[in-house]
Amino acid sequence: MIVVTGATGNVGRPLVAALAEAGEEVVAVSRRPLPPDYPAGVRHAQADLADFASMRPVLEGADAFFLLLAGDLNGPGESASALLDIAEEAGVERVVLLSSQINETRPGAVSHARLSEFEEAVRNSGLDFTILRAGGFASNALAWAESVRARRTVLAPFADVALPVVDPADIADVAAVALREDGHTGRTYVLTGPEAVTPREQAAAIAEALGEEVTFVELTREQARAHLSRFMPEAVVDGTLDVLGKPLPAEQEVGPDVEKVLQRPARPFGEWAARTLPAFR
Ligand SMILES: NC(=O)c1ccc[n+]([C@@H]2O[C@H](COP(=O)([O-])OP(=O)(O)OC[C@H]3O[C@@H](n4cnc5c(N)ncnc54)[C@H](OP(=O)(O)O)[C@@H]3O)[C@@H](O)[C@H]2O)c1
Repeated sequence: MIVVTGATGNVGRPLVAALAEAGEEVVAVSRRPLPPDYPAGVRHAQADLADFASMRPVLEGADAFFLLLAGDLNGPGESASALLDIAEEAGVERVVLLSSQINETRPGAVSHARLSEFEEAVRNSGLDFTILRAGGFASNALAWAESVRARRTVLAPFADVALPVVDPADIADVAAVALREDGHTGRTYVLTGPEAVTPREQAAAIAEALGEEVTFVELTREQARAHLSRFMPEAVVDGTLDVLGKPLPAEQEVGPDVEKVLQRPARPFGEWAARTLPAFR
């Protein structure tokens, strides 16, 4: 049995679908109920990952555990090792942690302290582990969905700074392999897309998928900061803006790990945009 946290999100949802399709018994964890169009036959467990004790009955009898820290869970909380202890006591043998490439490129970044703490706890646990350090998600472009729907406009900073954003479906596919197959224990993979694309190029890909023009309006760093601060902690906002605006060379490089694990190239941004078209219509 495989327990998947973040199960209704960008990564968790395709991961649950891939595991269920492969015939695995999956338990999908989220706080809210599963949406009506969720893959059939998947068991749901309602739990709050901020309260580790609520995960104990969910993990009981599981073989593998996909651990994703969404939203506020990237902020301070109970000691990360306590959750790994609970998993071990429940009989879990393998854990796959979704982390961030920032832990590789900017060790000690305040914005990623919690993920870093979880990486350490996973490494120090007695479990077989794989760590997935993802670059920026293609799905971050969903932040533009409302203005594309309403005004066919994208407002974003750093219009011409390219990053190899990764399709969450590729992260899910790599996670499914690491959860189900041997040979990935103790590995840390950096997951990127197949090419670096700028926000302006991403907006153009969305326009192409729509078959309509989309106007790009470049925001200043300060404007972007004010916007992001409405729903992200300050430290995370500044860390995010640094990566988007002043990426290090390693953050602009296309990594080999998606292709190495999946034996196929990573999906380009345009494929994500075409698949996610209903959000922008
Ligand atoms: N975005 C990026 O560029 C990027 C880059 C590297 C790494 N990451 C990592 O990926 C994470 C985001 O993944 P995503 O985009 O797939 O997430 P997402 O689409 O925002 O989905 C979040 C999922 O987690 C569940 N969830 C949220 N808080 C929870 C809680 N307290 N207890 C239990 N379930 C909870 C949500 O369901 P409910 O709300 O119903 O609980 C939902 O299923 C980030 O937080 C970060 O750790 C992101």
